[in-house]
Amino acid sequence: MKKFFVIGNPIKHSMSPQLHNHWIKKNNINAIYEKKELNSENLQHIISMIKEKKIDGLNVTVPFKKEIITYLDELSIQASKTQSVNTIYLEDKKVIGHNTDINGFELAIKNNNYDVKGKKVLILGAGGVVPSIIFALTKMKATNIIVTNRTKSKAESLKKLFVDLSISEWGKLPEFDMIINATSLGLKKNDEINIDFNNCKNKFFYDVIYNPKETKFLKDAKKNGNKTENGQKMFIYQAAESFKTWHGIEPEINAEINRLLD
Ligand code: ATR
Repeated sequence: MKKFFVIGNPIKHSMSPQLHNHWIKKNNINAIYEKKELNSENLQHIISMIKEKKIDGLNVTVPFKKEIITYLDELSIQASKTQSVNTIYLEDKKVIGHNTDINGFELAIKNNNYDVKGKKVLILGAGGVVPSIIFALTKMKATNIIVTNRTKSKAESLKKLFVDLSISEWGKLPEFDMIINATSLGLKKNDEINIDFNNCKNKFFYDVIYNPKETKFLKDAKKNGNKTENGQKMFIYQAAESFKTWHGIEPEINAEINRLLD
């Protein structure tokens, strides 16, 4: 039986096992997908298990998407450009790191019929998933991408990967067409972003968070008449590309999948 894991810390919240095990069953694949909470010290060992074929593939989540790179043999172009890995597999005896968050985000936005071309996009946060979002937005021809983060130095260091990136002070609100919450604020019930968005109307508010389904960020934005979307489709599409990478099968995305994650 093939074995797959999602690794991270914390990992309790991850819904990847539900999704992957559903697709595994639907496609009659002899495999199992589980979650594993790890510390930095365990990363090298789990990669050696891929090399020894004791594990067949990994998804990587917060906070290891960058840190894991040290232990890999090769990166896909997408993983290399973002210095971010969320999918790992063995090919020709080499452990390869790939990034499916980029396509996950792009497909989610396109599925929403939102055209990013020519738009000003403001990103809140500078954590693990942000390089993938910037890469996808650039690919979709956003004219201006601005990052604002509580710890400014972390936003500044993204300029090493993306030279055209603008940085703004945390708490200030530059003009934008689309705003993306890529912070972890909203994961907990009473979380609130300490920025006043009440003057923003007719914009697109996107939250990477999908559990809870509607953060305060999205709820308030909707009340103010903005278009809103949570991160569920991004999550499903990134998982689908990982599945295809490992099993060579395009998994079905349908209403059943949405019910599974509700
Ligand atoms: P990591 O930073 O380890 O990759 P992440 O969950 O991907 O983890 O990122 C968390 C993001 O949420 C960061 O941008 C973080 O800001 P800092 O870089 O300043 O830590 C942001 N964040 C978390 N708690 C926050 C808070 N209370 N106020 C503002 N931003 C917060």
